Amino acid sequence: MAKERRGFDTEAVHAGTPPDPLFGAVSVPIYQTSTFAFESVDQGAGRFAGTEPGYIYTRMGNPTVAALEDAVTLLEGGHGALATSSGMAAIVTVFFTYLQAGSHMVGTDSVYGPSRVVVEKYFSRFGVESSFVDTSDVSNIRAAIRPETTMLYIETPENPTIRLTDIKACTEIAEDRGLLLVVDNTFATPLLQRPIELGADIVVHSMTKFLNGHADVVAGIIVTSTDDQFRKLRAGLNHHGGCIDPHQAWLVHRGLKTLGLRLRQAQSNAMALSELLHDHPAVEWVRYPGAPDHPQRDLVERQMDGPGAVLCFGVHGGLAAGKRLMETVQLATLAVSLGGVETLIEHPASMTHASMAHEAREAAGITDGLIRLAVGCEAEADLLADIAAALDGLSDQHLETAGTPS
Ligand SMILES: Cc1ncc(COP(=O)(O)O)c(C=O)c1O
Repeated sequence: MAKERRGFDTEAVHAGTPPDPLFGAVSVPIYQTSTFAFESVDQGAGRFAGTEPGYIYTRMGNPTVAALEDAVTLLEGGHGALATSSGMAAIVTVFFTYLQAGSHMVGTDSVYGPSRVVVEKYFSRFGVESSFVDTSDVSNIRAAIRPETTMLYIETPENPTIRLTDIKACTEIAEDRGLLLVVDNTFATPLLQRPIELGADIVVHSMTKFLNGHADVVAGIIVTSTDDQFRKLRAGLNHHGGCIDPHQAWLVHRGLKTLGLRLRQAQSNAMALSELLHDHPAVEWVRYPGAPDHPQRDLVERQMDGPGAVLCFGVHGGLAAGKRLMETVQLATLAVSLGGVETLIEHPASMTHASMAHEAREAAGITDGLIRLAVGCEAEADLLADIAAALDGLSDQHLETAGTPS
């Protein structure tokens, strides 16, 4: 009888944690080694040829890293996974492995800035062409595809605009046009969205964010849906060299065990904050997939098991007022990144997405007034009090300025 899929939290706690044959350690041991001894020349040769099981060299594989890869593979419903030194190393390894001179890729215009810049600035030097479009409207994808297009690269929810792209619709386009569909699932995590189950080929993550969850590690992962992709990407990663260190892998694996607990708490806080922002007179607009007025509510329901913990908003008074807000908050920390237990606030146009050209940013909806709030696990009342106090300060100042004779 097929083994029933256990609850997400059960899998997160136990996945990739094989019994330790040596001492019965409950936590996966850290194999902090660069290389592995062979018993004979023939055994070494066999390992290189792939005819003998066993490890060779940590850039090519390591038991502590493998434990983390097994856990993420299971949670994402994939075939295999390759952990990397950063989210960017995961993304670049996929591009490095699959894109070539003369090929063209279509991507989401408001992806994490460097994911786009690396294609437009660097891969273009090797003859790779690209079109970054608003993939929240899939007709833009169809319009951008050319005969030489080989890859569709989407991020949903998008960073930082919190727009969504329909993964199922992208799967159909990719199948129809023979494209490799790659999805950056960093914002949703497998708790809330499993792109491979919806038909995507490859998932990438910045594990720096929710999967690790403690703002203390930079790491990434590639999850494949087939053995062929796994083999190609394993070779690609080996030559690209962006492997993860075993100790980093162990830290991420430890963080992964509490993903459900952390993200549910952060999500519930985000919902409360989105309501506060929605009702506050100092706020001009707010976008959060959990809000009843998110323009893609239907898609949120169809594609996600929850709206996540990142939202964006703008305040009256534009960038100047936004800067005051970001410098007034006390509990939320003014810092880039997201997905940790601590709430972070940042200004994408001058920080995370500053490497994009100004026009490209504006066209992608990353306006100068957009503020990103990555909600953490603090007590809801404290977060609400912090953001409300900063917003009240803006309203007071707004009223004072409005009342000042010119
Ligand atoms: C959606 C998304 N993808 C990829 C990355 C890159 O990850 P890393 O910083 O781990 O290289 C980030 C980083 O912020 C991100 O937000």
